[in-house]
Amino acid sequence: MKICFYALREYDELHFCREMKEKYGIDFTYTTDYPNDKNIALASGCDGMSCTPCDMSRKVLEAFHNVGVKYILLRSVGYDHVDLEAAREFGLKVDTVTYPPTGVADYAIMLMLASVRRFAHILKRAELQDYSLKNKLGRDFSMCTVGVMGTGRIGTTVIQHLSGFGCRILAYDVYENETAKKFAEYVDRDTLFRESDIITLHMNANDDNYHIISREAIEKMKLGAYIINTARGKLVDSEALIWGIESGRLGGAALDVVEFENGLYYYDLMGEVMVNPKLAMLRSFPNVILSPHTAFYTAEDVRDMVEGNFRSCYEFGTGKKLHGVEVRA
Ligand code: COI
Repeated sequence: MKICFYALREYDELHFCREMKEKYGIDFTYTTDYPNDKNIALASGCDGMSCTPCDMSRKVLEAFHNVGVKYILLRSVGYDHVDLEAAREFGLKVDTVTYPPTGVADYAIMLMLASVRRFAHILKRAELQDYSLKNKLGRDFSMCTVGVMGTGRIGTTVIQHLSGFGCRILAYDVYENETAKKFAEYVDRDTLFRESDIITLHMNANDDNYHIISREAIEKMKLGAYIINTARGKLVDSEALIWGIESGRLGGAALDVVEFENGLYYYDLMGEVMVNPKLAMLRSFPNVILSPHTAFYTAEDVRDMVEGNFRSCYEFGTGKKLHGVEVRA
């Protein structure tokens, strides 16, 4: 069996590919580029193709199907970028990865703390020798009510870890999670909006929750509330967020993901013209923190992502389910 890796990072993923090749007996080839018209042929002769989130529309899936690829192996938990209906039509099997939820959960908590303590602003000013206190007054995190939207693996871990800080925790999800229930109170969406000082998003993006943080939602929130997004950009209407910040309704936001981040994030664009006006606008606010979709980025998670693709390929190809069993090819 063989996997063709796209957008493979030679500095942190390649050595894991080499390790997993030995462990699973599955060969690989790679390119550092995202899939495009010119490099799809690189996957011919491969059982699977692997990529981090990128355009996985019908056209792209058809092209991979045409060169003989059978498995679409995502180096992500999220799959909102994949046209699953088209994949089914072309007989392509699609799999995501699972990496420990702690990395993203702790990053979200870091963003919460940084937001309410105005940490990014304080650091930026200190770099310029501004050691004054004016405009740097924070909130006591332990006294905040945190509303967690989405109580899957990551949301529930956020809740568990937050309980150590002494925050009051509210939760919202269509499905209630028994572990989350031990530390958080499930409430309806409007109650969460009304009572939370901080709202943190941990949902997969789908048609039902597109722009769940809309202007209408922001209008329902507590004056001075903070929005934290480490899930998907599509959950937040950026225009509404800009309105919330400009009008002073929101106290701030910390966004690891933004709408239309594809083509920007993970590229070094230093010195180039910013082509995302909403992102440029958000960047200009002192109470908005932006990071380039790095919440997942730990050595542990990267390893699990690469291994996850090899495991899926092994399982698809052999029909054998691995349950944490060591594979020696
Ligand atoms: C995911 O796993 O869904 C992520 O968002 C991280 C990915 C961009 C590598």
